[in-house]
Amino acid sequence: MADTKTAIVTGGSRGIGREVCLRLAALGYNIAIVYVGDENEANDTIAECNKKGVTAKAYVCNVASFEETKATVAEIRKDFGNDIEFLVNNAGITRDGLIAFMKESDWDSVLSVNLKGAFNMIRHTAALFIKNKGGRIVNISSVSGLMGNAGQANYSASKAGIVGLTKATARELAPKGITCNAVAPGFIHTDMTKNITEDNSELLKTIPLGKMGEASDVASAVVFLLTSPYITGEVLRVDGGIAM
Ligand code: NAI
Repeated sequence: MADTKTAIVTGGSRGIGREVCLRLAALGYNIAIVYVGDENEANDTIAECNKKGVTAKAYVCNVASFEETKATVAEIRKDFGNDIEFLVNNAGITRDGLIAFMKESDWDSVLSVNLKGAFNMIRHTAALFIKNKGGRIVNISSVSGLMGNAGQANYSASKAGIVGLTKATARELAPKGITCNAVAPGFIHTDMTKNITEDNSELLKTIPLGKMGEASDVASAVVFLLTSPYITGEVLRVDGGIAM
């Protein structure tokens, strides 16, 4: 395994994260998936990665926990070695509600998973990237974080926070040869959006390209940024034009 570089993908068990894992596996990267939830989904992603000839392993870990993420990164280094090149902070949740009625716990859990989760993972990998004199980070934001979305104050705040986290990290780590970028998807077909359908013409009207996107559309942008040595601090929209 020594010659093969490793990518860590949070939320890699399904949806956009799974698509990112498969793209990186096709490029020859070993894959460490950090997730919670359905083990079968994670095993499916691992099997698909294995078919591309790389090693993949899934770690059950709540990214919102500083201690769990610290232990998981240590475990990944033990399993895969220190040649970790990519970190993709993709794990995310929604707990939608109107702000006048939003439960404190819904605010806290969305901020903890979506924003603190990305901080935790960067916090526990940055020293290794610095030691390795390189590393690439991509954080998944959202158009909700760029424009705001009614009924999603917690989610929009977390995803706007990702933009600030990305730019500060990019500035701080650039002298060490490490890049940090964000991708801001619009409406993408995954489990997270299974309640949104394109029959809803009001939704379609907000998308200049007139349709929802696919996880593979987002994965293409993630891989582009991971493999671009001279782009840092960028927020790349993959949204059919919603937030232009
Ligand atoms: P999904 O619900 O299909 O997958 C979410 C993944 O995150 C799963 O692998 C799950 O295990 C993981 N996860 C959730 N909570 C976690 C936790 N506490 N610790 C570790 N892992 C956890 O979601 P989808 O649609 O693939 O979204 C991926 C990312 O893209 C999220 O950050 C989401 O906010 C963002 N996004 C999605 C959009 C969409 O339309 N689907 C639009 C804009 C952004």
